[in-house]
Amino acid sequence: MTENKNTASDKFVGVAAEEKQRLYDRALEEIKSQLATLEGGMIVPRMATVTAVLKQYMPHYLWCGFYFAEEKELVVGPYQGVIACPNIAYTGVCGTAAKRGETLIVPDVNDFPGHIVCDARAVSEIVVPIKDKAGRVIGVFDVDAAYKNAFDETDKRFLESLVPMLLEGELQ
Ligand code: SME
Repeated sequence: MTENKNTASDKFVGVAAEEKQRLYDRALEEIKSQLATLEGGMIVPRMATVTAVLKQYMPHYLWCGFYFAEEKELVVGPYQGVIACPNIAYTGVCGTAAKRGETLIVPDVNDFPGHIVCDARAVSEIVVPIKDKAGRVIGVFDVDAAYKNAFDETDKRFLESLVPMLLEGELQ
């Protein structure tokens, strides 16, 4: 059996700040053009498209995807990356962001009590709550990176700006 070792370190191996913004600008163009071809109100095709575009455009994304906020747990939605936990408790990073209704940036998941490990390579994480028009949290968007401190205000600003685009149709 292969051991899943965490080989990440403090060394910066990700995308430089100015490059990150440039890549997000390009990803946004792609997302807009892809979403423009979608008709109907379903949110899942928009979620699937967003995960695919971001995983392809953003080199620091190890895994990205949605979880839907159900009463007792979070249930996986569209995602890109290795197989993820299909349902997770409200105790982890995703659940905490969902409960607080605010974006969480975790520079090192080992320092986050309750963090839920789906992929042992994931070292830092950002979770953005998805709120409907009434302000209720209907899910979260979660991104993992394989090195510490991968996410910052640039990621937060961009990902939060995507939420209204996801919600343009009815929730189905
Ligand atoms: N780390 C998350 C679990 C989801 S996976 O990272 C895909 C958490 O603590 O909630």
